[in-house]
Amino acid sequence: MGITPVHFFSHGSTRMLEADTESGAYWAKCGKEALAHNVKGIIIMGAHWACLGDRIEVATNPTPGKSFCPFSSPALYKDWKPNPDLATAERCISMLKAEGFCAGPNPNFTWIHDVFMVLIRMFPDDTKCPPVTIVSMNARYDPWYHVKVGATLRPLRKEGYLLIGTGGAVHNLYRNAWTDMLLYRESLGQERPPEAWALEFRQATEDVVTRNRGPALRKAMVRLMQHPAYREAQATDDHWMPALFAAGAAGDFEDEAESNVLAAETWELINMANSQFTFGQYKDDMEKTFAERQETDKLPQLGFVTAAA
Ligand SMILES: [Fe+2]
Repeated sequence: MGITPVHFFSHGSTRMLEADTESGAYWAKCGKEALAHNVKGIIIMGAHWACLGDRIEVATNPTPGKSFCPFSSPALYKDWKPNPDLATAERCISMLKAEGFCAGPNPNFTWIHDVFMVLIRMFPDDTKCPPVTIVSMNARYDPWYHVKVGATLRPLRKEGYLLIGTGGAVHNLYRNAWTDMLLYRESLGQERPPEAWALEFRQATEDVVTRNRGPALRKAMVRLMQHPAYREAQATDDHWMPALFAAGAAGDFEDEAESNVLAAETWELINMANSQFTFGQYKDDMEKTFAERQETDKLPQLGFVTAAA
């Protein structure tokens, strides 16, 4: 297989589990690709779990429950069974400790929608979901710390593990327009354009990801935290750290050979940009011709369809 790609998924609101979106279709496509390439396991950092002090934890609950996922039907997730990877969790803890992290297990962790929403869309049949290792963030939200977590676990890509960060490109819950969600359980209407700061930071993120590779990608992703629109785009740092984890995992000199793409995007609640990024690609995909890639990269048709004349 060679080295696996890395994904940074913007999970958006919990409606993203129930609504049919371009992003959800891309998550499904990534799941199919992962299965086609026999990935050994998923190693994922979400935006909803951070540890205090110097600590970082890895989930080791053998039978994790799932927390409530508002605005989506419980039927979509209540029976989907998590597939935790305890052996890889212990291995990640060892690798993190060897790099100086204060890392340890968390045998009581309950899965949260930032992780299971994406995994359900990727692997609707839970029996097909590869074993999953969830790594926490650290609540000091030091950007280079989270880059280093990704860099530390990067060698697992060469063994066939798929590394994923799930957060948000533009994700400020205080600046979202919630009325339609609260009244109608609807988040995709976009009755007016996003505000300028949201558009600017979304564009900056796309530019940084698609125009930088290797260590330059890591630096540029960290530098986005100094962008004038960063604090409006990210009211808190928790949904940006998984992007830095992904950049750490995909920002080695070896990664300079491969391109990074914005593969899909869904705007929600006026100001939330759910951009889906993939860093690198499976090796056999690299060997495809441009025409072959165009064919296999097609996403299901969504949105307006023009009637034939
Ligand atoms: Fe979230």
